[in-house]
Amino acid sequence: MNLETLILAAGKGTRMKSKVPKVLHKVGGKPMLQHVIDAAKKAGSTREVVVIGSGAELVEKTITGVEFVLQAEQLGTGHAVLAAEKNFAESKGTVLILCGDTPLLTGELLKNLVAAHEASNCAATVLTAKMPDATGYGRIIRDLDGSFERIVEDKDATDLEKKIDEVNAGVYCFDVQKLFGALTKVKNDNAQGEYYLPDVLPILMAEGEQIGAFKAQYADETLGINSRIQLAAADRALRMRKERELMDSGVTIVDPNTTFIDCDVQIGQDTIIHPNTYLEGKTIIGEDCNIGPNIRFTDMVVGNRVTAQFSYCHEAEICDGVTLGPYVHIRPGTTIGGNVKIGNFVEIKNSIIGDGTKLPHLQYIGDADVGSGVNIGCGTVTCNYDGKRKFRTTIGDNAFIGCNTNLVAPVTVEEGAYIAAGSTITKDVPKGNLAVARARQTNIEVWNDKRK
Ligand code: UD1
Ligand code: CA
Repeated sequence: MNLETLILAAGKGTRMKSKVPKVLHKVGGKPMLQHVIDAAKKAGSTREVVVIGSGAELVEKTITGVEFVLQAEQLGTGHAVLAAEKNFAESKGTVLILCGDTPLLTGELLKNLVAAHEASNCAATVLTAKMPDATGYGRIIRDLDGSFERIVEDKDATDLEKKIDEVNAGVYCFDVQKLFGALTKVKNDNAQGEYYLPDVLPILMAEGEQIGAFKAQYADETLGINSRIQLAAADRALRMRKERELMDSGVTIVDPNTTFIDCDVQIGQDTIIHPNTYLEGKTIIGEDCNIGPNIRFTDMVVGNRVTAQFSYCHEAEICDGVTLGPYVHIRPGTTIGGNVKIGNFVEIKNSIIGDGTKLPHLQYIGDADVGSGVNIGCGTVTCNYDGKRKFRTTIGDNAFIGCNTNLVAPVTVEEGAYIAAGSTITKDVPKGNLAVARARQTNIEVWNDKRK
């Protein structure tokens, strides 16, 4: 059956004490709301409608590929669902309702919930979980024979009800027509003066409908994030999940506790990740690499057999067999060719470096096209900026750049050219030529005697 999803994400997130809307806070390097959307899609959802309100503009700017509907005033989860009534006017069958603050949900769990709901005659099925600490959650009240009766919110619960450890995960399947038929009957006569979505369940029961309660096998998948402390716990849990997946697929992670890998990162077989390593964003790493210790890669594409330590690289590409570090900064727009050696305090920005080229120590290479087999001596600097504009430097294959060379761009050093150490190159150097551009040394005899 076709599955559509409604995600509630309009709340202020007061308990976060943040200027940023709660659902945009990141776990595993990705906004919470995006995790929820991804889980819905994995469960087979074909359409996601997201209710926004607090910080709506920012949410709309950050999240793509979904429909938005505005809940101008946040009067509770039931009120939020009602705001999306028009979006589901044509819909039939099951609507999956999720909250934007439960980032640990898995597609698998949602799929099982939907299957259980659709196999039953229930007008609604609520996902429940046994929580070791149920504080803050709505509790599931069951009658004497164990069937679902209602949900009581933490703030409305009696001391006895607060002892119940089965909670509402904030995830539901509804028959979409029956949901909107009953929702207008929900009242706000409770501790928070809000229209609670869970209150629609007893209303449906009074109308003769059946309500199911589906218990999640792993309670931690339903964790709701209301505070920064819960945010950190969710982040930890997601990262452990990611690391387990990677280790299961043949990646070695020397110390999972000091390794931080974002959810969408991909790593090839037999790559070893050493401690204090951060792999962020859409980073892709090939096979048989040695990454770390102390690496931060953000949105990097890295080939096979790359060795890297103590470095920060972002929005760039590194080809097979490269050796990198310690203390290298590779900045956006850079492509490092195969088997290049870069080490010891080198910065490269917006440049193409050809295969087998060596940049072993203390270089700044910015806006440059460097050929293959080039040797760049210690202390070489591309002078790419005149205070107003940036210019490119071109270095041909197999050129040799002596130590402490300044290359004043725009300038071209042709194939096989040789530059004497300490030169400041302002003119193009033709193929195979030797360029010397430094003051001649004068040795003055007995200088010390004359001075006296
Ligand atoms: C809610 C449930 C509670 C459940 C818990 C699970 C209600 C009344 N309570 O409580 O039973 O155990 O989730 O995590 O539903 N939202 C809106 N508009 C609003 C209010 C909220 O869009 O007017 C959104 C929020 O952005 C959030 C979600 O709904 O993503 C849940 O709201 P929140 O205030 O976090 O509810 P809880 O108190 O956690
Ligand atoms: Ca919540």
